[in-house]
Amino acid sequence: MQKEIIISPSILSADFAHLENQIKEIEQHGANWIHVDVMDGQFVPNITMGPFIVKHCKRLSNLPLDVHLMIEKPENHIKAFIDAGANRVTIHTEGNPNIYRTLQEIGELGASPGIALSPGTPASMIENVLEVVDMVLVMTVNPGFSGQKHMPSMIQKVATVNEMIKKLNREIIIEVDGGITAKTLPPIHKAGATAFVAATSIFKHQNGIKSGIQALRDASLS
Ligand code: DX5
Ligand code: ZN
Repeated sequence: MQKEIIISPSILSADFAHLENQIKEIEQHGANWIHVDVMDGQFVPNITMGPFIVKHCKRLSNLPLDVHLMIEKPENHIKAFIDAGANRVTIHTEGNPNIYRTLQEIGELGASPGIALSPGTPASMIENVLEVVDMVLVMTVNPGFSGQKHMPSMIQKVATVNEMIKKLNREIIIEVDGGITAKTLPPIHKAGATAFVAATSIFKHQNGIKSGIQALRDASLS
């Protein structure tokens, strides 16, 4: 039997007028982490939240904060996010000439470093940074918005990353993000992903947050 999956609800689809209740609810119903999608309007077309929101999430919950930076020059901002309470900081491979150094700095500042791959970026791009990361995030939509259609073609990339990790002697989590539902979860779980980000299928589940989280857990056992 496989280990229990990690569920990281993305607050991008939360009701921000009731953020405290929404966070309490995901915590109460078994979320493992809280995923915070940071977008700067440059790296991706959307603008979302910054360290200020991370600070409030920290105040509201003891769950680890899984901060996904979709921003240009992440090296200029990692300290602010970690000071605000980020436990895990994931930066993107694309357009980032300093990834190795920035990942090391995330670790030195006391957070878990993660590296993300957008759909158009091959797994081979991260080969040389695997030794300094705790997590690989394989995007299963184009970064920028919640509610997009999951790309099943990314399953193969997860399998490739999984093979790359097996050759190393360290634990590295594979996280997937984008269009994760009870339907899309099983094949990508089988390919090696063990952490699942979900915004729409949790916060907008027709029967509420509890059912959204439960559906993903049940799907991981199927
Ligand atoms: C997309 C973000 C995701 C997004 C997921 O750029 O990184 O975390 O919020 O949303 P859903 O689960 O709705 O695809
Ligand atoms: Zn994300």
